[in-house]
Amino acid sequence: MFEVDPVKALRPHFEAALTAAFGAEYSQTDPMLQWSDRADLQSNVAMGLARKVGQNPRAVAENLLKHLSANDIIEKTELAGPGFINITLRTDWLAAGLSARLEDPRLGVPEATVRDTVVVDYSAPNVAKEMHVGHLRSSVIGDSLARLLEWRGHTVLRQNHIGDWGTPFGMLIEHLLDLGEEQTAAEVSVGELSAFYKAARKKFDSDSEFAERARNRVVSLQRGDEETLRLWRQLVELSAKYFEAIYDKLDVTLRREHVAGESSYNALLAPVAQELTDTGLAVMSDGALCVFPPGFKSKSGEPLPLIVRKSDEGFGYAATDLAAVKHRTQTLKATRMLYVVGAPQEQHFAMVFAVARMAGWLTDAIRVTHVAFGSVLGTDKQMYRTRSGDSVRLIDLIDEAIDRARQEVQAKSPHLDPQEQAQIARDVGVAAIKYADLSSDRVRDYVFDLERMTRAEGNTGPYLQYAHARTRSILRKALEQGHAVPVAHTPLAVGSEPAEKQLMLHLSRFGAAVESVESLLEPHKLCTYLYELASRFASFYDQCPVLRSEGDVRAGRLALVQATGDTLNVGMSLLGLRAPTRM
Ligand code: ARG
Repeated sequence: MFEVDPVKALRPHFEAALTAAFGAEYSQTDPMLQWSDRADLQSNVAMGLARKVGQNPRAVAENLLKHLSANDIIEKTELAGPGFINITLRTDWLAAGLSARLEDPRLGVPEATVRDTVVVDYSAPNVAKEMHVGHLRSSVIGDSLARLLEWRGHTVLRQNHIGDWGTPFGMLIEHLLDLGEEQTAAEVSVGELSAFYKAARKKFDSDSEFAERARNRVVSLQRGDEETLRLWRQLVELSAKYFEAIYDKLDVTLRREHVAGESSYNALLAPVAQELTDTGLAVMSDGALCVFPPGFKSKSGEPLPLIVRKSDEGFGYAATDLAAVKHRTQTLKATRMLYVVGAPQEQHFAMVFAVARMAGWLTDAIRVTHVAFGSVLGTDKQMYRTRSGDSVRLIDLIDEAIDRARQEVQAKSPHLDPQEQAQIARDVGVAAIKYADLSSDRVRDYVFDLERMTRAEGNTGPYLQYAHARTRSILRKALEQGHAVPVAHTPLAVGSEPAEKQLMLHLSRFGAAVESVESLLEPHKLCTYLYELASRFASFYDQCPVLRSEGDVRAGRLALVQATGDTLNVGMSLLGLRAPTRM
């Protein structure tokens, strides 16, 4: 495979130069190549090497440059400032690499050489509760990471850790009985989950007879009473169906088989408590079984417990997560685990991981990350809520975005048939929401502004989709006009225009952008990459006529259009965004 990533392709040249200038022991020094505005790439290697070889940085750079002359990749080099090496790449080298990967569905990006088994814990809404914007973030971020890791060749195990167990089910089941099974099904399936939950809560707080029934019901549930379990299952089933409808609408790849709810760990909880007791890690404290992992202190400086079993004998959220870690590492054989959960749960996960390490369920060979994210704010910078103060229903947001997109499509593309318009509106509205979420720095809060995120200009999902659709429309027109479509090895435009080279340079960095998300788990880096790609494409299209050119220039530019369209398409698919071919 032709190496199209300049940073990787330059590596052997640096190795050779480092060896020739300073000896083989320096051959593996990182060339510290960075993209730069002044040339194409800049190497800062001389700065770090100076002390080691006892020369000043400028002398180091000069020595290296003696052995880094122009070659098949490098057009010219230049010494700048105190010892930076500026490198201008050859356009024909870039063009050849990009041309070789035309028609390659992987765009020249190989699968990872070391394959992980990655558990991705994401979405995790709660049964009989509304999915809110926080669950939106988890679903969207988690799904893009799952897709990207899978594309890189890792085995991805999606785990939807839904909240399907606990004391609230006593009141929920009693409320179900009061309402009747049919009426409950009708309410829950249209997404009136909040109303259902709130009504149950209200009765629980105000009606002592109901509260008594609810408490008894919890006991029956924990004892495994058949009829109670049947009613509980009904609630879980109705909610799961409702969640699936949302995943479907959002193009999130979670399915029934990925549900591993809290209740699925019930049988492991007592053994987990036993093991922690036997090893002496867990101790009784105020009637509760606790582990005190070193380094965790309360505000007043007291050691902080992770509660394994509460004083009422019940197991809680922490115990379930401990069991889940054990299950994921020992049974699922995870080598990497991602927990895509909001930032407020940071301490919970830090403590769970610490205890799992103490117990030996988690080892240094397993990489575990709490992929934390910030809150969603309204345009008033407060927590995102409806006017009445309720949290906003996810499904309503999606529908509103699709609605906005529909109006836009109807105005812009009246010639398309209504069915296609509806499909495009759906793709665009959903992409608008997902992209807005993915493109902001994950750990920061972001402002949910439907008006901004559905715009076709600026750093938005629709902007990327328009850029992609434009590449497809150019290629369709070329075909209609009888020009050859680009195939593998069609030579690319050789770049007499600066905008052509700028676009090629950026295309050559696709693999690096994907790899950075794979290691840092920050999808916004891929968003930024694609936004920049779409912008460079716009400049290219502005400055370089494609269909109005002739002969080789036209063929080369068409190939560049194809390479851009394919890269946008694959990039968006890794983020979980649809790329319609016409808009
Ligand atoms: N159900 C929880 C919530 O809504 C999120 C669960 C996250 N995953 C986990 N393994 N704890 O906050």
